[in-house]
Amino acid sequence: MTLQEAEKLVKKCSQEHVLALWNKLGKKEREALLEQIATLDAKSLERCKAALKAGVAVPDTSNGKAPKVSVLKGRKLQEAVAAGEKELAEGRVAALLVAGGQGSRLGFDGPKGCYEIGPITNAPLFYFHARKILARTIRYGAAIPFYVMTSEANNEATVRCFEENDYFGLNPDDVFFFTQGMWPGMTAEGKIILDAPGHIFMSPDGHGGLLAALKRSGALADMKKRGIKSVFFFQVDNPLVEIADPAFIGHHVLNKAEYSLKLCAKRDPLEKLGVPMRFGGTYRMVEYTEMTEEQCYRKDKSGKLYFLYGSPAIHVFDRAFLEREASRPMPLHLAFKKIPFVDGKGALVKPSEPNGYKFEKFIFDILPNAKSVTFLAFDQKEEFSPVKNAEGVDSPASCKADMQGKWRRWLSEAGICVDENLPVEIDPVYALDASDLKSNGLCLGAE
Ligand code: UTP
Repeated sequence: MTLQEAEKLVKKCSQEHVLALWNKLGKKEREALLEQIATLDAKSLERCKAALKAGVAVPDTSNGKAPKVSVLKGRKLQEAVAAGEKELAEGRVAALLVAGGQGSRLGFDGPKGCYEIGPITNAPLFYFHARKILARTIRYGAAIPFYVMTSEANNEATVRCFEENDYFGLNPDDVFFFTQGMWPGMTAEGKIILDAPGHIFMSPDGHGGLLAALKRSGALADMKKRGIKSVFFFQVDNPLVEIADPAFIGHHVLNKAEYSLKLCAKRDPLEKLGVPMRFGGTYRMVEYTEMTEEQCYRKDKSGKLYFLYGSPAIHVFDRAFLEREASRPMPLHLAFKKIPFVDGKGALVKPSEPNGYKFEKFIFDILPNAKSVTFLAFDQKEEFSPVKNAEGVDSPASCKADMQGKWRRWLSEAGICVDENLPVEIDPVYALDASDLKSNGLCLGAE
């Protein structure tokens, strides 16, 4: 893009101040700024401004009803597992990981997927995800293509992590990296924020940026070419997740669902999990901040929490549903943050109070558009222990304890007793579940 073209574009978007410090910039900074301006488009900026005007409205959730949640047992469980195993064996399942987040609460300098979580090996989060996919590929004899969404900030380091670790044993042809979009930060008045004289402050467009990125990158087309029907979605920070769990895939397929959600009983009424609610004939994810106190504590006739189930963002999508949704605009959510900015003279200011807005899209906003939805209950301690914070709840320490707790339960089922003080770690390719460990268990200690 030339300077003249950039001037025309910023004028069209009423963002002329973006070029105000042009004369102070060196050659490289000028080139970089022109590249950033080229990514702006008037329509999207207008959407951001409209979102700012609308403000952070708290939706009315008072009519919300708890959804019907399936608990699979006995014959129903067997049927779902059989259906899921068929899908896996016939190569119709893909794994989709969103790993573009900034991980600011954890405070780790690098992609969160590179964070070392293995209690003994210090293997990164990516290792556990990739090895589970590999284990299922081996078990069912068909590839599970792995789509990994990164951001501009962490794409290079993510790809390097996979390359340096030989893709953790996966076939590189079945791993597809793609990068999510970025939105510029804005002041309350809708002015783009510069965080250096020649640089626009940009932040990733949220996990909902997934849909546009899937389409733009060709990942959706790749899924179609490979004959994928069900797409298992998960987040990078939860190494307990049962990726492409046959029961979940089978439940989704047998119900001809477009969107299936795994839900877990909340550990306490105020647990910070989104809660899906039914409003008439459609479902919507209600964030914990949008629930009233009465809703959080409401009990049913049996004395159980009425809104018992929360969503840890473990989903299965029908591929065709993702394709349909990728062509529609998604709602924008505002986050009011402290954003460093340059003043009129080009000096950097680090604000002590929030001063600007980031814009994000959330994947669960497509829930109301799904023609058929299923909800499946699972046991939180078996499948969900995210690494969100540096310490305390949902931290590396609590996650490592939960990972080891799960492996110890498997070991105990296999009749192997491990001293509580000894750390444990099991490679998913060695054992994907307790029954795998039972059949492989005799090898333990022999090596
Ligand atoms: P979180 O909402 O926990 O955000 O992301 P985060 O960026 O990882 O961490 P904080 O809030 O800055 O501490 C949940 C999942 O969504 C992905 C994350 O990588 C994680 O897997 N995500 C989030 C994206 O892929 N892109 C985004 O823009 C935001």
